[in-house]
Amino acid sequence: LFAGETEFLKGVVAMDGMPPDDRLEVCFAGRSNVGKSSLINALTGRKGLARASNTPGRTQEINFFTLADSHYLVDLPGYGYANAPVAVVEKWQRLLKQYLSGRATLRRAFVLVDTRHGIKPVDEEIMTLLDKSAVTFQVVMTKADKVKEAEQEKILDQVREKLAKHPAAYPELVMTSSEKGDGIPLLRSIIATLT
Ligand code: GTP
Ligand code: MG
Repeated sequence: LFAGETEFLKGVVAMDGMPPDDRLEVCFAGRSNVGKSSLINALTGRKGLARASNTPGRTQEINFFTLADSHYLVDLPGYGYANAPVAVVEKWQRLLKQYLSGRATLRRAFVLVDTRHGIKPVDEEIMTLLDKSAVTFQVVMTKADKVKEAEQEKILDQVREKLAKHPAAYPELVMTSSEKGDGIPLLRSIIATLT
């Protein structure tokens, strides 16, 4: 699957701009700066595909990428950006709810969690929304290269404990580093086996 062509299709700010749901779809959610765009770049092997930057909140639109001719990868705007105006946050929450309940072909949401920080209250809000929308989600730990292995276990325990409360959570965590490539082949195969 990941040997196929990947292209940026479009950025969407409202439901009526969404492409037809005629392909299998996975989306990537997570706090601003957690590494969503970098992960999409690593998965597809294309450095500049999804814009990755140091500026939090840079990805404001729901970005659709085509993968081979069978899948969409969807980069969701980051949440939890401290300086975002209330009106922007509310608009985003509305669109996110519509997106999660309106895409029949959405097979799994990957919720990215920074290995240094673990699950924060804003992550739990998204997870509760995914529960309500009955979208199976799987946690992908990012930036694993920034945390020593001995220290990772403590965070992973916190993550597992929080996930146990979410019925839509898939229990297996994926540790990744987009920088080093760790966990990328595993995540590719997880996506490729979804039906
Ligand atoms: P928004 O679009 O603003 O929500 O951010 P994002 O979640 O798309 O994060 P992005 O991929 O832009 O990455 C944010 C910063 O983290 C960038 O400076 C990346 O280079 C860095 N980063 C992302 N993944 C990794 C990783 O695995 N390891 C390290 N060390 N840095 C990473
Ligand atoms: Mg981004």
